[in-house]
Amino acid sequence: MAIVLYPGSFDPLHLGHIDVIEQSVALFGKVVVGVMHNPGKSTGMFDLEERNEMIRASISYLPSVKVQAFEGLAVDAVKQIKAAFIVKGLRTGGDFEVEQQMAHTNHAVSGVRTVYLPCKPALVSISSRFIREIAQYGGDVTSLVPAPVAAQLAKLFPPKGNA
Ligand code: PNS
Repeated sequence: MAIVLYPGSFDPLHLGHIDVIEQSVALFGKVVVGVMHNPGKSTGMFDLEERNEMIRASISYLPSVKVQAFEGLAVDAVKQIKAAFIVKGLRTGGDFEVEQQMAHTNHAVSGVRTVYLPCKPALVSISSRFIREIAQYGGDVTSLVPAPVAAQLAKLFPPKGNA
């Protein structure tokens, strides 16, 4: 049974991420969900601790999954937790372009390998960015995120009609 690191910004976690976590558990056994800063994205909607809490609440039914925040590089996090490799989810060809470049670079600088898992076709259109956008305008995102995330978003942005 391997330990694998599933790093991401998870701002917020959505059902596509849950699919990748569940696939990783089935394939590899132990999964550490690494909540990290993406230097290419702005500060974000939730801080790292809030994201951690929401992920923990959402995956509590998966005992072999841990959630941990990391500063710095994903490859350093891999070494810190003695993971065998990085796992990433792929939704589209666009994701593949970005992930392939990151995987090659991570391998070049550290020797750490990355494995890609395809998201369920029904979930490929979900993105944290659009969830944030819809929630900010009081839209309904309950079909896109786990219940603890929906509850947290509803506290921040009361859904239309309940304000
Ligand atoms: O969910 P995201 O935003 O696509 O996740 C991207 C993330 C956080 C995994 C990526 O930005 C990352 O690995 N950040 C840590 C910094 C790092 O290792 N950079 C080197 C990239 S080759």
